[in-house]
Amino acid sequence: MAEGIHLAAEGVVFRYPHAERLAIDGVSFAVEPGERLAIVGPNGAGKSTLLQLLDGLEFPTAGEIRIGNTRVTPSALRQIRGRVGLVFQSPDDQLFCPTVADDLRFGPQQFGWPRAEVEAAVEEIAAQFELTDLLPQSPLQLSQGERQRVALATTLILRPEILLLDEPTASLDPRRRRRLIELLGGLEQTLIVATHDLDLALDLCPRCVILSGGRVIAEGESARLLIDRALLEGSDLELPLRLQGRG
Ligand SMILES: Nc1ncnc2c1ncn2[C@@H]1O[C@H](COP(=O)(O)OP(=O)(O)OP(=O)(O)O)[C@@H](O)[C@H]1O
Ligand SMILES: [Mg+2]
Repeated sequence: MAEGIHLAAEGVVFRYPHAERLAIDGVSFAVEPGERLAIVGPNGAGKSTLLQLLDGLEFPTAGEIRIGNTRVTPSALRQIRGRVGLVFQSPDDQLFCPTVADDLRFGPQQFGWPRAEVEAAVEEIAAQFELTDLLPQSPLQLSQGERQRVALATTLILRPEILLLDEPTASLDPRRRRRLIELLGGLEQTLIVATHDLDLALDLCPRCVILSGGRVIAEGESARLLIDRALLEGSDLELPLRLQGRG
């Protein structure tokens, strides 16, 4: 994706209103177009907060985030939203329509796509995500794993250039987890995946950032960092399952 967009965070600091400590404490990293980066870290490390900052749902207290040449600020939001898509950790934060089909249509309709194009895109994404039978159902009647797939589809239908995923495998059974990893691995988009599933990070993302207490404590090749037992244990993480039990 030669003409894709570059993302950069520089010295980003964020404090939730009334919170005592910083949720994000001076984070810098850059992502090249088409790259797949994992953001790993234990509960409370700041992974979800960081993705929300990258998507313009929150804004840095200090420092800045740039998507291409655009700084993520309230006035640039419409531009950002057309290029960046976030799939929330909890699908319940993302699905609010009476049916799965309506949830899939919602984004394209907001962007003013012609009706026929919306319907064709819904059909295509539903087939890709094995959601065709679920289209008439209410998201409330679906299992957690099904809801998670619908949430991902509602974001991918817009074909964002940068896809932000928050714990995308948390509720999936092993077969669907494997299939999701294959699907994500085949995408051309830039992927930033926040997860404590280190096997997912190893499978999907050649590079990772380890976050702990809102700070980057290591950054580099996943194949090197995620087998470093001392580094991981120092960050309240454990070796990927497939490496546990080996010397
Ligand atoms: N809405 C909020 N208001 C105040 N503090 C918050 C809020 N959301 C998160 N925090 C705090 O910010 C810090 C980072 O939280 P965040 O949800 O980003 O972590 P995370 O790495 O995504 O964790 P998890 O693995 O549990 O999803 C935590 O200390 C958390 O308590
Ligand atoms: Mg989180």
